Amino acid sequence: MPINKKIATIICLSAVVTFSALTSMRADHDDHDKPNLKVLPKNIPHKVLHQVMEDWATALGVHCNFCHAKGDDGKMDFASDAKPEKNMARNMYKMAAKINNKYFEGKKDSLGMVIGEIKCITCHHGSPHPDEVKGMDMGHDMHGPGNGQQAPPPPPAPPAGN
Ligand code: HEC
Ligand code: HEC
Repeated sequence: MPINKKIATIICLSAVVTFSALTSMRADHDDHDKPNLKVLPKNIPHKVLHQVMEDWATALGVHCNFCHAKGDDGKMDFASDAKPEKNMARNMYKMAAKINNKYFEGKKDSLGMVIGEIKCITCHHGSPHPDEVKGMDMGHDMHGPGNGQQAPPPPPAPPAGN
């Protein structure tokens, strides 16, 4: 094979490799055409975004549709801001970030996401309404049946002289 044909082949091959690499990179990103992100980093990888969403859902003990609305086609429209809960979640994220910045010396990771000590689960503990603690009848008659029962007597003190 003449030398310039060899070079042409090599150039062709590397063009194919480059092209397919670029196409697969595009495929990674195109489920995120117009993200409607106002508090999370806009360049957040899809995997990390999904993890954050799972964390929020778990922290509040809810499903995705607690914050996300369905579109007219009946499918989840994650970019939509139709549900007030979604915006509340943004406020909560900003609140937690502020507390962490001010009182936990705001450590941030390489994406600019706050990794402070206050998280959704710190308050929410698996409920959208943190002050409704499961098993506690807050605000009810503490002396009524089932509530405010006397604590069991303390165990007898161990015999002295051990
Ligand atoms: C507590 C509320 C809440 C829950 C629960 C929640 N999300 Fe989100 N989600 C948000 C908020 C707020 C944003 C926008 C963040 C921003 O503005 O930076 C968002 C953004 C998203 C986006 C990006 C949408 C876009 O703009 O392109 C996707 C995708 C998404 N959520 C998926 C999920 C999935 C899947 C679940 C369930 C596992 C879930 N979310 C649960 C509040 C929530
Ligand atoms: C410092 C405590 C605290 C932290 C941290 C916190 N929240 Fe909240 N959140 C609350 C309280 C209190 C309410 C009001 C609950 C109620 O109305 O009963 C609330 C309400 C909400 C609501 C509205 C619930 C509804 O029924 O409409 C959403 C959504 C929410 N929080 C999401 C989040 C997310 C997401 C995070 C983490 C990014 C977070 N919260 C972190 C205390 C907190």
